[in-house]
Order: sequence, then structure tokens, then C-alpha cells
Amino acid sequence: MRRIHISATADDLSVDAAQEFVRVTADAVKLRSRCYVALAGGSTPRGLYRALANTQPLRTQVPWSRIEFFWSDERHVPPDDPESNYRMASETMLAAAPVPPTQIHRVRAENPDAVIVGRQYEEEILTDVAHDGGMPRFDLMLLGLGTDGHTASLFPGTTALAERRRLCVDTWVERLKTHRITMTLPLINAARAVMFVVSGADKASIARDVLQADSTAADRPAQLVQPDGELLWMLDDEAARWINRPVS
Ligand code: 6PG
Repeated sequence: MRRIHISATADDLSVDAAQEFVRVTADAVKLRSRCYVALAGGSTPRGLYRALANTQPLRTQVPWSRIEFFWSDERHVPPDDPESNYRMASETMLAAAPVPPTQIHRVRAENPDAVIVGRQYEEEILTDVAHDGGMPRFDLMLLGLGTDGHTASLFPGTTALAERRRLCVDTWVERLKTHRITMTLPLINAARAVMFVVSGADKASIARDVLQADSTAADRPAQLVQPDGELLWMLDDEAARWINRPVS
């Protein structure tokens, strides 16, 4: 079930996405007492993370003590590196939120061997995310959208995008000349809810291609995110400027 929500401004988008975050996590905790969330990286989620940790009533409504935080992808850098997705989420949200440190599962990306980093994270997911012997299921998978259609670190033409067995892998991204660690499509699509948060005029073209193309394509990896559960696309007006408005 795919739903598209369009917010007037980037700030409205942060609050609207934060309200969806509260809804999904509170429902998960009500049903299963715990909640597993994979955070998105990049810059777009900054406003969302700040809204969750710093504005009321959102801060009070988030079931912080019951959430296990993971990352849908990470750069191959130490946790204190300005490029680190862990550092971004810590600075904007986790450092200010009442989350037990044992519930923050960062990617150990300081290890120079990216293959080991990927395998360690896969192990941590298998150990710490509830699964009934099948695929571990995140309650909420947060994702962004790159202008080339990538999401997490699933870039067009990479082996990570083609991976259908592993939950998390290392991947070389030629365009960036760097390794990344990323959750794979099987794990992402097993999530009970996936929420894309997309902001800004530079994403308008790719957002239209991803959301309105009549066929999916491997050169638009975000289109391959098709969870059995809830698929929510949260955009601001600028990113949604070329999308036919959903009939409300
Ligand atoms: C990352 C993200 C990546 C990001 C998109 C959009 O590690 O960079 O996981 O998939 O979500 O590239 O990035 P922005 O939000 O910075 O536009």
C-alpha cells in the first residue's frame, strides 16, 4: 500500500514525517512492546530528527525507551567523521533523546575492511532484530532519495542492488570512489513500514521518475523498494512539483 503525502515546506515536511514516525513506532510498541527503526542518512532527515528530539508534543510521544535504532546505510568512515550518518543522527537527535546506549546500533565503520564491517552489521541485525527464523522485520525503515535514484547506499549498477540473500553488505560506489555499507532490498522490503523523506527542487525530476514511471527500473533503485507493508512517500512542495497531486 503506497501513500504519497505532500507538505508545503521543508519545515512542514519535518513535522509531518515526525508525526508519522510517532504513529508507526507507538503502534509497534503497543503491539510488540519493542520497535526496530533504521535511520536514513544524508542531510534531508536532519529536520525530522531535530523535530522528534526537540519539539513538543513529539518528544513526549516517541517511545524512546522501547526503540532499537539502526541505520539503513553508513559511509565507510569513523563515527566522529563529518560524513558519518551515525554522527548526523547523534548530533540532531540521539544525543538529546532518552535512548539507552545499548539500543543504539551504529555500523562499526571505523574498521578499514568494509567487508568485515558489512558482515558484523549483518550479524548484529540477526542477533538484535526480532525474527521468527525468517527475515528480520524492521517496524520502520527511513530512506532518502538521491538525484540518481539511489536509496540507502543502493546505487544503480552496484552488486549491493542485485543482492537477494544478504541483509547488509559492503559496496564500492564508483561515482563516489568510496565504500559504503548498506541494508539490502530483501531486508528493506521486509519492513512493516518504509518511509521516504524527500525535500527540495533538485529532487523533483527523480521523484517524478520514481513515483510516476509506468515501469520499475534498476537504474532507479528507489523504485525497487516495494515492501509488503506500508510504503509512505513524504515530500515537500518543491520536491513534488512535477507529481500529479493525489486526489485527497
Ligand atoms: C546517505 C543516504 C542516501 C541519502 C540520499 C539523499 O548515506 O547519503 O543514505 O541514500 O538518503 O543520498 O541524500 P540527501 O538527504 O543529503 O539529499
